[in-house]
Amino acid sequence: MSAFEPRVFSGVQPTGNLHLGNYLGAIKRFAALQDTHNCIYCVVDMHAITVWQDPAALQAAIREVASAYIAAGIDPKGSIIFNQSQVAGHAELAWVFNCIARMGWLNRMTQFKEKAGKNRENASAGLFVYPSLMAADILLYKGTHVPVGEDQKQHLELTRDIAAKFNNDYAERIAELGLGGEDGYFPMTEPLISGAATRVMSLRDGTKKMSKSDPSDLARINLTDDADTIAKKIRKAKTDTEPLPGDADGLKERPDAANLVGIYAALADVSVADVLKDHAGAQFSAFKPALADLAVAKLAPIADEMRRLKADPGFIEGILADGAGRADAIARPVMQGVKDIVGFLTTRK
Ligand code: TYM
Repeated sequence: MSAFEPRVFSGVQPTGNLHLGNYLGAIKRFAALQDTHNCIYCVVDMHAITVWQDPAALQAAIREVASAYIAAGIDPKGSIIFNQSQVAGHAELAWVFNCIARMGWLNRMTQFKEKAGKNRENASAGLFVYPSLMAADILLYKGTHVPVGEDQKQHLELTRDIAAKFNNDYAERIAELGLGGEDGYFPMTEPLISGAATRVMSLRDGTKKMSKSDPSDLARINLTDDADTIAKKIRKAKTDTEPLPGDADGLKERPDAANLVGIYAALADVSVADVLKDHAGAQFSAFKPALADLAVAKLAPIADEMRRLKADPGFIEGILADGAGRADAIARPVMQGVKDIVGFLTTRK
């Protein structure tokens, strides 16, 4: 038995174009976890500026992610919703973790390689150390469970490596100060990557991830799309000419078909096998309208609620301020413990 209280933490970057992948891979599951766990959901604005963000657009995007959280069913009274930069501990702990993480570990991160592209020399230093900040986000609250999409798996492995090295490097000191038992000061965080939509693919190319930065808007369904736009994008989605198979094996080597079936399953909260049982032998001319109806039924209410919340920025900002206060109250003693462990001198007031 772990000595750590279960606590869920996750985050989404406010970089515009929130899409179906963000919803099915993350935000929808954030809402579901509230019934069984204490949850903290962060809008990671400090991660966003690792690449250039227009300041006014960033503020709007922070409010947008917070409203998507609420529209998707996260209760801001039960769970904590806040933006990262309002709790100073994220930056403080990230610095300590920059001194724990090894260059070799960070050099292996595939997301850095993808985002930096060919011009690595011109990438910000922040983009390189991005995973230490992500580890700090989670461990500042001793987060034990982190719901994310498949693309974040490597960052969560690094989070465990950082926690293990910290626990190990300072084991004696942690014991001496009575700040942790055998399990150390920080928990070994578990990723929660499950369901039919851990990797939603582009509607234009089933071998590419659905992403905020795809130049084609037809590649993704945005959470703010209206019903007509959702239906049009599904109608235009790339497919092959075969009918749907009777079981999941029949979707191998059919990435576009597999993607649409996975999206259907995740939206309907059923398994891929169940979708195929109901639609075996169907042509896409019949399956696509069924998927469009389902997507509109599930997503249009979220878009409506996001529009409603957008009209009241003061309300969202109040929620973020309240959340930041509650997050800070959890973070402070954890950060104080880190300072004592590493040997910083603190003048207590
Ligand atoms: P971000 O903002 O890129 O994405 C937010 C969440 O959406 C998931 N996701 C997807 N899931 C399925 N299919 C897709 N096509 C898809 N695209 C995105 C992501 O996996 C993620 O769960 N580094 C993180 C943000 C972060 C964080 C954290 C997450 C910062 N600190 C601490 C968890 C814990 C990111 O860039 O997510």
